[in-house]
Amino acid sequence: MKILSVASEVFPLIKTGGLADVTGALPGALAGLGVSTRTMLPGYPSVVARLPKRARALHSYPDLFGGKAKVLGVEIDGLDLLVLDAPHLFDRPGGAYGDAGGVDWPDNWKRFAAFSRAAADVAGGAIAGWRPDIVHAHDWQAALTLAYLRYGDASAPPSVITVHNLAFQGQFPASIFAELGLPAHAMGLDGVEYFGGVGFLKAGLQAASAITTVSPTYASEIRTPAFGMGLDGLLNLRAGQLHGILNGIDTGQWNPETDTHLASRYTVRTLKHRSANRHAIETRFGLDHDAGPLLCVVSRLTWQKGMDILAAELDRIVAAGARLAILGAGDQGLEGVLLAGAARHRGRVGVVVGYDEGLSHLLQGGADAILIPSRFEPCGLTQLYGLRYGCVPVVARTGGLADTIVDANHAALAAGVATGFQFAPESGEALVDAVWRLVGVFGDDGAWPAMQKQGMKADVSWQASAKDYVKLYRSIAA
Ligand code: ADP
Ligand code: GLC
Repeated sequence: MKILSVASEVFPLIKTGGLADVTGALPGALAGLGVSTRTMLPGYPSVVARLPKRARALHSYPDLFGGKAKVLGVEIDGLDLLVLDAPHLFDRPGGAYGDAGGVDWPDNWKRFAAFSRAAADVAGGAIAGWRPDIVHAHDWQAALTLAYLRYGDASAPPSVITVHNLAFQGQFPASIFAELGLPAHAMGLDGVEYFGGVGFLKAGLQAASAITTVSPTYASEIRTPAFGMGLDGLLNLRAGQLHGILNGIDTGQWNPETDTHLASRYTVRTLKHRSANRHAIETRFGLDHDAGPLLCVVSRLTWQKGMDILAAELDRIVAAGARLAILGAGDQGLEGVLLAGAARHRGRVGVVVGYDEGLSHLLQGGADAILIPSRFEPCGLTQLYGLRYGCVPVVARTGGLADTIVDANHAALAAGVATGFQFAPESGEALVDAVWRLVGVFGDDGAWPAMQKQGMKADVSWQASAKDYVKLYRSIAA
């Protein structure tokens, strides 16, 4: 079976979050199950820089939304890629979605409409000798692919859309509709129209043969007004086609036994070797060398991630005896509050502002625990990396965090099945209470390593979930 995966981020070429990890790792897992994936992504500078000199143009446009464009076929790091090379849209400094200051590009609607248009053409057979059996679009940036197919290609292959985060919907004013090249009747309630404007994600949710999201709990949460972000009505109407399939992780990239980002590598039998990584973290974050628990945070600094809740509780976390190493970037207000907290608690709280893939590995490999106080979390990957690295996850009980961590309550500890700590979301009180519970278990040199090892035994690979995707692909292809 042949899949066309369409995504705006793919690790290791371009990454702003977990989406890239997923689209980068899933093809490898599917390959083992007889499913081949070609992944289409935009030609950002970081992607074009990795292209070989003579990358093959498989399809060309004299004019795609205002400029010349080509679809280039390349293989990089084992990924079979289709790169949309359209310099007028993607050859810009800054990030995938905005300028260096993080401000969204004003023509994002055009960038991702063009990307989706080209993906729909590929799905429809624009590349000689290759036609996918299924089109799999990820998030709003790829969602319009499915609308273009629905309204323009009667023989379009069946499709899946995966919602990685319902908070990002690609909503634009109605005035752009005329430039999308869709027929007039597409601007309807069951089409691309969304609260008077155009909704890219909404259009994809309407058009897809099947909808998935990245954990079972999030799949039910998004059918409620509290988590539905305005789309709960539509998602309820399509509940029969909505599936929650948990993300896995790339266990090759994330393996403490071989991880070159670590100061010291280890296995479940040599957990002692984590201490060298812990020292490296203490040095890098300016923290006291201490026997108490070292907690880390690796996160976008946003409201979704509960970083304001964390910032408000720094004093009480430190009072509980923990130290905190925070790696994150995002909201500048939050960066400031966290840096101020670090200045207040020298030696106890350290903050590195920025995006640093290598340092994120070191934190997982050396910190005792990873704190994830999200308000909502479609899946979350950092708790899965934490499990694999013996870095005990302390998580808000929501979305994929609720699905992947077994709370260390008395019964779970006694039964030896606990893998972390859960607490009620949106509550500073509950977060601090979880840190106190952690401090208690940390002091027990039988229970603590047992919990680390239990986490390291958890299956966080793509094995099971890749099978679920294949089952879904087969059911809609039939
Ligand atoms: P989201 O996609 O919502 O940000 P996930 O937990 O699914 O959340 O994925 C986040 C990914 O981004 C993980 O791979 C995590 O390690 C990485 N990450 C987040 N912030 C940083 C950072 N500041 N530096 C390095 N990696 C980061
Ligand atoms: C989104 C979500 C995150 C999820 C990731 C990959 O960014 O916020 O929870 O793990 O996508 O699916």
